[in-house]
Amino acid sequence: MMWGLLSVCSLGLAGGCGPAPQTVFSWRTETASLIPEAQAAVKATIEESFGTPNQLVAWERFPVAYGGVKTEVVAPAQGEPPLSATSVKISVPAEAPEFQPGDVVIWRTGKASESPDPTATVVSYVPQTQRLVLKSTQSHEPTAGDELSIGFGKTLQLGRVVYMKNCHHCHGVAGDGQGPTAKYLNPKPRDYRDGVYKFTSTLPGVKASREDLKQIVLDGIPGTYMPSFLLLGKAETDAVVEYVRWLSMRGELEKALTAELSSDFSRKTLQDEYDSELKEYEAAVSAGEQMDAPKSMAERLTKAKDDFAEFAPDYADAVDGAADGIAEIWAMGDEPDAVIVPSVPRVPDDAASRERGRLIYLSDQGKCYTCHGVQGKGDGAAAEDFWKKPGSSENYPVRGLHDMWGNLLPPRDLTRGQYRGGRRPVDVFRRIHAGIKGTPMPAFGGTVLKDEQIWDVVNYTMSLPFAGSSAAPAPAPQTARRGESMDDATAK
Ligand code: HEC
Ligand code: HEC
Repeated sequence: MMWGLLSVCSLGLAGGCGPAPQTVFSWRTETASLIPEAQAAVKATIEESFGTPNQLVAWERFPVAYGGVKTEVVAPAQGEPPLSATSVKISVPAEAPEFQPGDVVIWRTGKASESPDPTATVVSYVPQTQRLVLKSTQSHEPTAGDELSIGFGKTLQLGRVVYMKNCHHCHGVAGDGQGPTAKYLNPKPRDYRDGVYKFTSTLPGVKASREDLKQIVLDGIPGTYMPSFLLLGKAETDAVVEYVRWLSMRGELEKALTAELSSDFSRKTLQDEYDSELKEYEAAVSAGEQMDAPKSMAERLTKAKDDFAEFAPDYADAVDGAADGIAEIWAMGDEPDAVIVPSVPRVPDDAASRERGRLIYLSDQGKCYTCHGVQGKGDGAAAEDFWKKPGSSENYPVRGLHDMWGNLLPPRDLTRGQYRGGRRPVDVFRRIHAGIKGTPMPAFGGTVLKDEQIWDVVNYTMSLPFAGSSAAPAPAPQTARRGESMDDATAK
């Protein structure tokens, strides 16, 4: 299967890419520590597949709704004008958007001799006759059955504009979470490049769905600096969600390729090896023993370079495998069965349920108290411990829990009733069921707690802000989201 790589902005679509600020996509630090040849290969792949902030490239193999309509040429009926390079009849799905003058038309010829595909621009479109009038600069004589894309990449481009206006100063141009404002914030803006999102409706290990990301953009994350963008229009919201997904996939591909190469082609690893061999050698010499001097760094780098040249034929496979994996797992996030839907309706929120919930909260099964504290104030013993950095034997220098991005993350004070991932009971159910991805808050669904038990814990947790008062918990907002009925959303 051929995967089209289409340059979005260089086509000069309506609006272009906006004014060109001096922006570049940053690279991961691990990428920068590869030997120059490996680094160049990774950067070339990423730039070819995703472009630059001012010249986006859309790789169709990824599940991103880049925008535009794919259609084909149909044979004119008798009496209708014939097909020509400047006037074609097309098949358009009923829900197709209106085509704008200036929209770019790409003839998907699939012919190597016509790569890149020839293009034209829309002059006008008449829905009644399905006639598309074109201005062509490249010759393509259309025949019935020819495939074409109209306005391809428009959504990605709009997403970029929205992102650069509203998001990049916190989340960074590349979505690395390192925009200019980021250093003052806690928690830190999300680094999209790991493709991990905290507040999802999906099962553990499954990505965020489009709906999840959209909800975050609309609601913001209460109690953090992530604002609500309720005032963006629907098209803008949808577009920025696609752009965030696209930045994630870009970052994940870079991460995967760099990880693949770093065992053999990391300059840092070579340096570490050299340093430790040198130490051994110096110790041997000072002890008066015989030992060959270690190979110099220059020799090691030359050897790694030769090895990399030998590895080159396999590199394309590595790219293919990594891209496939990323595409697949993102697509899964939008499958209906990825969503956590409680198997039983909310257990009635009465004193008995809260008491069962309290016992689970304080049990070895739930262990909630170890982090959130016996009273729920976020002061459990775990918050006082030193924790190991993942994949290392070193501790974090400061006490307390950390998220996967290495930031200090205290367990929530549950007595305050602030829910970052949504305050409907079903949202809290999902937090406990799937845990909070990228954080130490574990998943309890499936094996540890049954759905009934999770509801009991939800009832107990949501009563904590009202402990000692007779006030009832605030009613949940009356909205249903994807994969659930109003009953799930508002179950009392
Ligand atoms: C003022 C800074 C700021 C701005 C502006 C901002 N964000 Fe955020 N964003 C944050 C912070 C901080 C977090 C992390 C909160 C947390 O971890 O609890 C975050 C998290 C997120 C997440 C991750 C949610 C999850 O479940 O993990 C997404 C997606 C996101 N922001 C999208 C956007 C988009 C899209 C825009 C622009 C329309 C935007 N943000 C603008 C600060 C910001
Ligand atoms: C290993 C520590 C740990 C354990 C055990 C733990 N949590 Fe958490 N929990 C956290 C951390 C850390 C956060 C904050 C995550 C964030 O804001 O990114 C959190 C957040 C929460 C939230 C806030 C969700 C939101 O949308 O803001 C709730 C509710 C919660 N935990 C309930 C529980 C319950 C109930 C249990 C036991 C069944 C539990 N937690 C067990 C660490 C833990």
